[in-house]
Amino acid sequence: MPQSIQLMSLRQCEARQASLGLWDPFIILIALSVGTFRDLPIYTPPTLFCDESIAIIGGGTGGLGALQVILEIQHQKNLNWEVVLYEQRRGLGGVWLEDLTPPSPPTLPESPLYPSLRTNTPHPTMTYLDFPFPPGVNLYPSHEHVHKYHLTFADHFNLHPYIHLRHNVTAATWVGDDTTGHWNLRIHREAPPSARILEQTTVFERSFDHLVVASGHFRYPNLPQWEGQDEWLANTPPGTPKREIIHSIFWRDSLKYKGRSLLVVGGGSSGRDVVSNVAPVTKTVPRVESGFPVAGAIVKPRISYFTRDAVHFVDGTSASSVDSLVVATGYQVRIPFLEDGGALVVDPKARSTNTSTTFPQPRTPLTTNLRYVRPLYKQILSLSTEFPPNALYFVGLPVNVSNAPSDQAQAQFVAHTLADPTLLPSRLDLLSELEEWEELLRKHGYDPDHMGHATVDLVGNDESRSAYPDDVLDFLKARNVEGLPLHGSGARYTEDWRRRSGLTRNLGVLRNAWAQVESLGQKQTEEDWASLLNELLDSIGAD
Ligand SMILES: Cc1cc2nc3c(=O)[nH]c(=O)nc-3n(C[C@H](O)[C@H](O)[C@H](O)COP(=O)(O)OP(=O)(O)OC[C@H]3O[C@@H](n4cnc5c(N)ncnc54)[C@H](O)[C@@H]3O)c2cc1C
Ligand SMILES: NC(=O)c1ccc[n+]([C@@H]2O[C@H](COP(=O)([O-])OP(=O)(O)OC[C@H]3O[C@@H](n4cnc5c(N)ncnc54)[C@H](OP(=O)(O)O)[C@@H]3O)[C@@H](O)[C@H]2O)c1
Repeated sequence: MPQSIQLMSLRQCEARQASLGLWDPFIILIALSVGTFRDLPIYTPPTLFCDESIAIIGGGTGGLGALQVILEIQHQKNLNWEVVLYEQRRGLGGVWLEDLTPPSPPTLPESPLYPSLRTNTPHPTMTYLDFPFPPGVNLYPSHEHVHKYHLTFADHFNLHPYIHLRHNVTAATWVGDDTTGHWNLRIHREAPPSARILEQTTVFERSFDHLVVASGHFRYPNLPQWEGQDEWLANTPPGTPKREIIHSIFWRDSLKYKGRSLLVVGGGSSGRDVVSNVAPVTKTVPRVESGFPVAGAIVKPRISYFTRDAVHFVDGTSASSVDSLVVATGYQVRIPFLEDGGALVVDPKARSTNTSTTFPQPRTPLTTNLRYVRPLYKQILSLSTEFPPNALYFVGLPVNVSNAPSDQAQAQFVAHTLADPTLLPSRLDLLSELEEWEELLRKHGYDPDHMGHATVDLVGNDESRSAYPDDVLDFLKARNVEGLPLHGSGARYTEDWRRRSGLTRNLGVLRNAWAQVESLGQKQTEEDWASLLNELLDSIGAD
């Protein structure tokens, strides 16, 4: 299909005004004459004179949570903002929206979701604040429920008018310097299949004052390469299944592995799910390369190298019967539209160094070493020397947190610092705080460049894993920001029951108790979960 390029060099608010005068009647005419074209911006409430324009990129848990909070604070403070969310896919929900026609490798599917996926966390711990799953949903729901939950959230808060589906942001470029400027976004707009127009893809540019990146980080496979693997792949013995190595992002069903001998690399959630799904059908018990036991598999140490006949492990053992590898080694933190726009440098060798006291200040561009985007304040705010501190925010980077409430806490930070930029100390002060935090991690034996955005437990209390959102809110509390959602005791952001869910060592007991009441058809709501959790933790004297 032909592409048309519409270049708008106007700033976003001005572009809206121009588009009202120039483009919208044209678009409405097309829509009326050729059928529904739901994703065109004709349904966006026009903001004629906005003070700030904010683009959120990504319509998953993070982007939707951010949009809801930003709109709420905009409304509370009566701010004149234009807020737009761009989502490249056909619908909302991010990883929870299935790719119905997953391509063959190496083309990446839109989501790693596989048909048998259920959550590995109880759904009450996955909810946005005050927005529970409907009563009766299984404690570990299947992906369809989680997807539906996100749609219900978007409906309930009337987010759709601000969302543009099938809008792929392909480049974000900062036009300006470290004190002033704007983002120029290049966007590919794909028409829905139902659209009866000649042009399927339109490329246009829009400018925004601020960018909130919520584009997820489970999309770009981390795929190790081993010496000799190509030779091994090329030498399938006669009469045996064709040898294969795929990343877990491509894994969909078990039947393909019927009669095969499988080695799974990586014992994270993906690796464990692959093992439990395929174990009943494989020819041999699956082997998994993992640092800890995985039920249903023989645990092997790391792969050392391949020969044409076998996989060799670092302990000197080898496996000649293996014919398939599923490499479940996680994902790289990549943000192609920032990379292509020159705002993010990719350097796998990048290491954190302290520069806040160096004079003159060295250039510190935003960099990803594929695990860690740096320098970011509280994993949210870019401290790059290339643009002003509140030009670029991230939502959803932290790992090992309950995403939805954490995303909303981050969005509180975003919205309040956008509403009142004087809340932000200087870039150097924030950088110095980041460096102190990284130093503290090193003292506790963690390497910040390796652990990336994983939150850690520095005080030996599992609860501290759920402390991240409160740490974010503490920044705002310390600056006397009013109207913060503080639902926990002691004016904490995190509700007590949610915080106590972080006491993971007790979760097994709770799970069993819940399974029993579920089977009796009794307690089923988030409130019930909270009270059961409190009862159980109180009974064993946990804090
Ligand atoms: C297989 C799997 C299972 C999981 N299970 C659980 C679980 O049980 N419990 C749990 O708590 N967490 C789980 N997680 C973690 C889960 O990813 C988070 O809970 C959360 O849903 C992530 O949301 P997100 O919005 O940050 O990212 P995503 O869901 O990845 O959403 C990002 C969105 O941004 C869009 N986007 C990206 N780039 C662009 C662009 N250039 N232009 C426009 N749009 C763009 C994407 O299309 C996507 O819709 C799981 C993750 C995976 C991969
Ligand atoms: N049922 C579910 O709900 C479900 C299912 C799948 C995924 N998920 C979620 O999806 C996200 C991604 O999970 P994931 O399992 O794909 O990735 P992951 O959590 O990053 O786990 C990847 C694993 O591979 C290991 N690894 C990395 N490089 C390796 C190498 N070169 N050789 C051997 N091992 C290597 C890692 O160990 P090191 O850390 O030591 O490097 C880690 O154990 C997580 O948030 C997870 O919870 C959830």
